[in-house]
Amino acid sequence: MIKQRIIVAGGAGYIGSHVCVELLSGGASLLIIDNFANSHPEAINRIKELAGAKVDLLQADLADPSQRKNIVDTVKRFQPTGGIHLAGLKAVGESVAEPARYYRINMGSALTMAEALEAAGAKMLVFSSSATVYGEENENPVAETGAASPTNPYGRTKYFIECMLKDIAEADPHWRIINLRYFNPVGAHPSGRIGENPNGVPNNLFPYIAQVAVGKREMLNIFGNDYPTKDGTGVRDYIHVCDLAKGHAAALRYLDQQENGCALDMNLGTGAGYSVLEAVAAFKRASNRDIPYAFAPRRDGDVAEIFANAELAENLLDWRAQKSLEDMCADHWRWQSQNPDGYET
Ligand code: UFG
Repeated sequence: MIKQRIIVAGGAGYIGSHVCVELLSGGASLLIIDNFANSHPEAINRIKELAGAKVDLLQADLADPSQRKNIVDTVKRFQPTGGIHLAGLKAVGESVAEPARYYRINMGSALTMAEALEAAGAKMLVFSSSATVYGEENENPVAETGAASPTNPYGRTKYFIECMLKDIAEADPHWRIINLRYFNPVGAHPSGRIGENPNGVPNNLFPYIAQVAVGKREMLNIFGNDYPTKDGTGVRDYIHVCDLAKGHAAALRYLDQQENGCALDMNLGTGAGYSVLEAVAAFKRASNRDIPYAFAPRRDGDVAEIFANAELAENLLDWRAQKSLEDMCADHWRWQSQNPDGYET
């Protein structure tokens, strides 16, 4: 295998930073493209520190047509072997309020990324998709053959990008593409040096719990306790972000070995579902802090329960999530307690 030279769009973000550390540690060279819209430049320093390696950085906005030429030229000069696309907006509520912005930025940046790789002759791409593309009618565990019917504009941008990439691969069999459908990424690098750094009030469960545990927020609202689940609260497939990062490295290795073109959808999850109450109890044990909570009405758009059938990734990539809910909580807590204000600490 020739040395991997990978473009990582969105490499300074929560998942991207963990992916970068994993790839650098495996000997790859990276060009990170990020506009720091929802990430912090300090993440780049921490990536370098953890991997003991240098990275190239292009601070640019993939969705801005006036920057397109510079991006394509820089990507070509880097002579990549492939790319990982993680750049985009990801807040469900915001996407309902500002759909046009979500379509423009998410679709536009994915398209520029594909075109830049194509111009560089590197037709290999891993796309950061989401289990949010699945509809509500699928039976658990959900396999990749499950029906797709996302319930909000954010989820639709993920699904439409998957479709767009499949069309591109269909027209040109040199393309090798995997759409990774993440379940619920949580946790942080065990060093406590990189982790999730949400802007404002967190939307997602783990960052919210962590901020309650550290004393930044008074209590957690648990959205719904009357779901038909084990204890009435929502059930999700939480996956440690370092397991997820390893899944990206495995996806690139797999694509690198394919002689024929392909465009695959692939779940990355553990296959196990935990309820909100189970997650709260595990975080309490890991942090040794109180996590006050109250039950609140269900949140619009939430499903009762979803967890992955992760067999495809196991069979094709020889990848399987290794870390437990305890690991996820312990590592998330280490990051939160050592960096109470994220990268601003
Ligand atoms: N939850 C609470 N209180 C909170 C936050 C979440 O009770 O303050 C509950 C939710 O109702 C749900 C569970 O915790 O039952 C997990 O919620 P998250 O927001 O952490 O995760 P979701 O499953 O809603 O989110 C996932 C992805 C998102 C994606 C979303 C789309 O993590 O990136 O699916 O539905 F946008």
